[in-house]
Amino acid sequence: MTRAQLLQAARKARTQAICTYSGFAVGAALLSRDGQVITGCNIENASYGLTVCAERVALWKALSEGITRFKRIVIVTESPVPTPPCGACRQLLWEFAGDIEVLLGDLQQVRESHQLRALFPTPFGARNLR
Ligand code: THU
Repeated sequence: MTRAQLLQAARKARTQAICTYSGFAVGAALLSRDGQVITGCNIENASYGLTVCAERVALWKALSEGITRFKRIVIVTESPVPTPPCGACRQLLWEFAGDIEVLLGDLQQVRESHQLRALFPTPFGARNLR
């Protein structure tokens, strides 16, 4: 699974976005360590606040299917400025996926690449509860 193929999967997922209120469609494609691709799109609803980001939809889909080890995620929007994951998604990706590679793309190509650790320094995690 190349980065370009993962971008394509995120692009396809983005077409399912339910972004009735923001009009901002996001697609995500998560690659597991064993090569599976799990996609997600953002899902908004009338309460606004119950919106779920594309990244979290992909993550919940994966975890609920027993896929628990990850390599990278691609996030795609049509925005001229790459869209990084929101704070809540950074927390959840950190807790459940660890220091994965986070690729930010548009409809054409991957524009930026980051390690999650760099996007989310000094994380709160399970070890803080010990
Ligand atoms: N959104 C995502 O799905 N992922 C991001 O990384 C940033 C924001 C969604 C949430 C909401 O549906 C819309 O984009 C505008 O914030």
